[in-house]
Amino acid sequence: MSTTTVDLPLVASGKVRELYELSGSPQPALLMVASDRISTYDAVHPTPIPDKGKVLTGLSVFWFAHTAHIVANHLISATEGVPDAVRGRALAVKRLEMLPVECVVRGYLTGSGWKDYQASGSVSGVALPAGLRESARLDPPIFTPSTKATSGHDEAISIEQAAELVGDSDLMHQVAEVSIALYSFAAAHALERGVILADTKFEFGIDTNDPSRPLVLGDEVLTPDSSRYWPADGYELGRSQPSLDKQYVRDWATASGWDRMPPAPAIPDEVVEGTRERYIDAYERIAGEPFSAWLTRTSA
Ligand SMILES: Nc1ncnc2c1ncn2[C@@H]1O[C@H](COP(=O)(O)OP(=O)(O)O)[C@@H](O)[C@H]1O
Ligand SMILES: [Mg+2]
Repeated sequence: MSTTTVDLPLVASGKVRELYELSGSPQPALLMVASDRISTYDAVHPTPIPDKGKVLTGLSVFWFAHTAHIVANHLISATEGVPDAVRGRALAVKRLEMLPVECVVRGYLTGSGWKDYQASGSVSGVALPAGLRESARLDPPIFTPSTKATSGHDEAISIEQAAELVGDSDLMHQVAEVSIALYSFAAAHALERGVILADTKFEFGIDTNDPSRPLVLGDEVLTPDSSRYWPADGYELGRSQPSLDKQYVRDWATASGWDRMPPAPAIPDEVVEGTRERYIDAYERIAGEPFSAWLTRTSA
């Protein structure tokens, strides 16, 4: 499987990222390294997607820079303290105490939200008007948190349940408000670049090192792994949409007959290449620069 080893103490390993302890920084810091691994339905495929980790990292940095007026984020640097071997795919970040919830915002009715709506007329308990069609725009966008399962599938929960998990209702309502503000800002920016941001997921943490304990945006942000991005010119109500994200691989995985139980199957070459193209296309459309500019900026 695709991992680049770094000579630092390993703190945690997720489906896509490795976290290492970074010393020599004035505050507790981590090196967050995005691999080229890809997961669908919470299982990691044995086939890497070349450059994927660099796309995710470059896009996260783009969005951290453009959303800092909305909420503080964990980015320290994409170069300083980042070992040569992982330049472009790694970030030095503030170590946070992560909130145990995934903060999903939906601006369009698709995926599990569409399924939920068809069955119940609502999404994660948020009632919606009757008669909406697949891929309908939701205005205003809705906040539909889920659990952050350490293994297996995340589960949709209400904001009250999320508040209970977080242990602070005021904080959870602030998180919901900030999530919606981030989504709305990013969706407007993306649309100017011809891309629909259908939905996305944020993860927040608390900077316990700061006496004011501020809310900080962590993890990856607004990437094609954590979001659904659709080319605006291909949008048509009443069906699923062509996408610049993982949906392409999910569609292949479903058509392959895989039962969604681990182990996930190997991905054929043409699907690997198709996925890589979509991820790089997402970077270039949204950041408005060639992907090579990111590689050059972060090269050792
Ligand atoms: N600043 C941070 N401090 C501590 N943990 C973080 C920070 N940013 C992200 N994380 C955590 O690092 C992990 C990222 O690895 P990833 O492979 O994306 O995991 P997952 O399989 O859970 O999606 C997540 O568990 C995320 O909550
Ligand atoms: Mg993750």
